Amino acid sequence: MTAPHALEQLRELALEEIAQATDEQSLEAVRVRYLGRSGRISLWSEQMKTLSKEEKPVVGKLLNEVRGAVTQALEQRARVLQSAKETETLAGIDVSLPGTPVDRGSLHPLTQMLDRAINVFRRMGFALAEGPDIDTEWNCFDALNTPPDHPARNEQDTFYLPDGRLLRTHTSTVQIRTMTAAPPPIRIIAPGAAYRRDEVDATHSAQFHQIEGLYVDENVSVADLKGTLEFLMHELFGPETAVRFRPHYFPFTEPSFEIDVKSKALKGGERWIEVCGSGMVHPAVFEQVNRARGDNAYDPEKWTGFAFGLGMDRLAMILFDIPDIRYFAHNDLRFLKQFQ
Ligand code: DAH
Repeated sequence: MTAPHALEQLRELALEEIAQATDEQSLEAVRVRYLGRSGRISLWSEQMKTLSKEEKPVVGKLLNEVRGAVTQALEQRARVLQSAKETETLAGIDVSLPGTPVDRGSLHPLTQMLDRAINVFRRMGFALAEGPDIDTEWNCFDALNTPPDHPARNEQDTFYLPDGRLLRTHTSTVQIRTMTAAPPPIRIIAPGAAYRRDEVDATHSAQFHQIEGLYVDENVSVADLKGTLEFLMHELFGPETAVRFRPHYFPFTEPSFEIDVKSKALKGGERWIEVCGSGMVHPAVFEQVNRARGDNAYDPEKWTGFAFGLGMDRLAMILFDIPDIRYFAHNDLRFLKQFQ
């Protein structure tokens, strides 16, 4: 048999086997049999050496043709097999049926309130700080100049863990954590949950949320505190909002204030509503921090600071006109869907 004749036969054989391949594996086996390293077509390339001068160009050209035809047939067959496989997978599935609608979620009203306030503080250059919900008595009370016999430390008011740690009763713990970790100047806010053993009613919940703030630098004054919190309230509740600083007592600040807001834009607009505790950081707090740090980084002669704790549940209740703090935790969709 002449070389061209043998090649023609090889082509026919290969094309026939390709046409008969019924899946990817058998098709691959055909490819290896003909085009693999020692496949039947590949072997022909090696045999070229043995051919005469006259035969070489003719056979060479034909060999290329055969290789091309077989390669093309393999690709084509692969496509046919692939699409058959897809058709089979989709059999019985009506892709034109409408899908199952997925309800769009939305942010919890408290989260929305936190985000708004955090954005305002960011514009004023406050960085975000964090602390754990479970903390030590020292971070929660001692370092904050709260003596052991202070009523807030009572077991009736605070959730203590068996190991002596507690669920923080305020986010002021993060003030201490931040100062023991880094020297001044400090300008942070710390949003988070706090816990108290309060009798639960429409305005009290065992878990509530605060944004703590702390600003320590040289020459920080009550004017800075006032400016910062007035700006916040005006951004949140509108420029008409009145802000009142009422003298108060906190162990960790001196002087201390409670802050009330009143705005016609809000429901119940003529009433003062208390939203925040605040004051100038007590020198005793700086001294406790210095003792823990083992240095004098917070020298009370050099540094002053203001601090505040905003009641976020209260703020959200005012802004969204929510009558009962317990709604925040009920997870009732009829409630949550009102804040989309
Ligand atoms: N920790 C106080 C509370 O939960 C609020 C507060 C008052 C925070 C004065 C402060 C502050 O940072 O300076 O009632």
